[in-house]
Amino acid sequence: MSWHTKRSSTTPVPKSPSPVATAAHKERWTREILPKYAQPQGALMPILHEVQHEHEHISLQAMVEVAAFLGIHPSQVFDTVSFYEEFRAERVGKCVIGVCQSIACEVCDHKAILDRARLRLGIEPHETTPDGKFTLLTMECLGSCDTAPVALFGETLHENLTVAKLDALIDHARATGDRSRQASH
Ligand code: FES
Repeated sequence: MSWHTKRSSTTPVPKSPSPVATAAHKERWTREILPKYAQPQGALMPILHEVQHEHEHISLQAMVEVAAFLGIHPSQVFDTVSFYEEFRAERVGKCVIGVCQSIACEVCDHKAILDRARLRLGIEPHETTPDGKFTLLTMECLGSCDTAPVALFGETLHENLTVAKLDALIDHARATGDRSRQASH
């Protein structure tokens, strides 16, 4: 879990000239997402998923804009982003590798996978390589315990991982710069 605490009222919010939540986004969210929920804040999670999918992370600016759109306080959005592992508040590498560290994967030697990833990438969990190509994360149960050990490469789950399979996936990502579209091995 990565639940942060911050002095929200004094945290500076870096702003880019163009909004994250554009008029087109708001129009579509209003038309397609809001009607599915009794309260506007019910739409928070699907909207955050969209923002992250489009921008690879959810910036403070995005949180403020989403909060304004939904009529909730920015701290509620920040709490949600920082509570759920799948949301990222900071920029990440082109390829995000998330190694499951929960119990089933732990007993199936997830450590060998994690150690190999650390060695190959030269970074520790929750760090990004200097070239911006890879971010390494540890994650809680990814819901595929019967095929442990598992890891996410971007949005693709790779099951029954071995060090050799991990090497091949890293090599492929290095060669192609493809962030998440590798076929599952
Ligand atoms: S413990 Fe790793 S997928 Fe469940």
